[in-house]
Amino acid sequence: MNVLLIGSGGREHALAWKLAASPMLDRLFAAPGNPGIAQHAVCVALDAGDNNAVVAFCKDKEIDLVVVGPEAPLVAGLADALNAAGIRTFGPSAAAARLEGSKGFTKDMCARYGIPTAAGQRFNNAVKAKAYLRQVGAPVVVKADGLAAGKGVTVAETLEQAMAAVEECFEGAFGEAGAEVVIEEKLVGEEASFFCICDGTTAVPFGTAQDHKAVGEGDTGPNTGGMGAYSPAPVMTEETTARVMREIVEPTLKGMAEMGSPFTGVLFVGLMITAEGPKLIEFNVRFGDPECQVLMMRLKDDLLVLLNAAVDGQLSHVSARWRDEAALTVVMAAKGYPGTPEKGTEIKGVEEAGAAEGVRIIHAGTALDGERLVASGGRVLNVTALASTVTDARDAAYAAVDLIDWPGGFCRRDIGWRAVAREKRV
Ligand code: AMP
Ligand code: GLY
Repeated sequence: MNVLLIGSGGREHALAWKLAASPMLDRLFAAPGNPGIAQHAVCVALDAGDNNAVVAFCKDKEIDLVVVGPEAPLVAGLADALNAAGIRTFGPSAAAARLEGSKGFTKDMCARYGIPTAAGQRFNNAVKAKAYLRQVGAPVVVKADGLAAGKGVTVAETLEQAMAAVEECFEGAFGEAGAEVVIEEKLVGEEASFFCICDGTTAVPFGTAQDHKAVGEGDTGPNTGGMGAYSPAPVMTEETTARVMREIVEPTLKGMAEMGSPFTGVLFVGLMITAEGPKLIEFNVRFGDPECQVLMMRLKDDLLVLLNAAVDGQLSHVSARWRDEAALTVVMAAKGYPGTPEKGTEIKGVEEAGAAEGVRIIHAGTALDGERLVASGGRVLNVTALASTVTDARDAAYAAVDLIDWPGGFCRRDIGWRAVAREKRV
């Protein structure tokens, strides 16, 4: 098979590595890719926002499957354009991608199908939103409706913070994404990410992970796309997983199909495990980044076989198998992130760092400047390790971090702290 992978981050490097290992693969292309992905794929300068250009490329190269990494092209209808041209695509239609593209849409769907989530309401003007805030008080959560690159959510501890977040949204801080807001109760508990691959009617559990969103140690400071992750998430017991499938995932797939927009692709279920049980925080319609990196380290099966089964509506015949070991990834970011990251600083020692047993250095925001590897984004490297426990995986990952010579970068030193503390107790 010839496969085109859309994206350029650490998530896509991990996917490219697994796809390249498939005996079914003939040629792998990546658009636009990165220097890590280039070890496994032919990187092409193709604009994922230009549906016609992607379709033309696929026809020219006889692409049998397109795998879409990030959410933006999905929400913009790339899968629709490809499917209309007869090109098989792993990823939801624009209508199904509303599960991530509109928090208000998801809130309404949860209400309609009795899916456990934070109680909340949607508003399209500041006056009504503020009146509601006065009524419910703080703590409370304010969210821009649309895609805001992970920055549209404010967990407000005071009414003033919540009011300011509402104003910010309606004043255009998130553009069109903030034309509506969702205001909801603050959930209390432990967060977990749960993944399923879906073929429109069947969902197959596809691993659990926990990530660290805050930029600073001890989960302090502004939110990022994720500063590290590990898999599996110990809080996702078999019983909790079964409950999430029954109470959240299955009704969602049924609801989407009933609404005429069956969901195909990765359903990323962001959960809060509360005293009353698991509740939905949000859906994403793609793999998490950096969660995908730790999932791929643990996946035993041929990824390409599984993605094909999803596209062909054959998931009721398959399941995914995982290594018993734990995987952990430390994100190395460029100084300045999540504000304005410094670009172009040189990174050395990547090869040496990746030589240790069980360690893999995944490229997220790197570029080549002649022979030199340089930083070209906010999150730059994902230093990833597989070991028998989270503690051992963490130690291996940080040993590798220490071999990377990059004065322009930084990382959190406490990735996996919750699971490490749990392992100490038992
Ligand atoms: P989201 O982009 O919806 O995942 O939100 C980003 C982060 O905000 C989540 O990972 C949670 O840590 C937090 N968050 C979002 N909604 C809630 C909620 N209802 N209660 C508590 N925390 C929340
Ligand atoms: N790491 C969180 C996300 O991919 O949305």
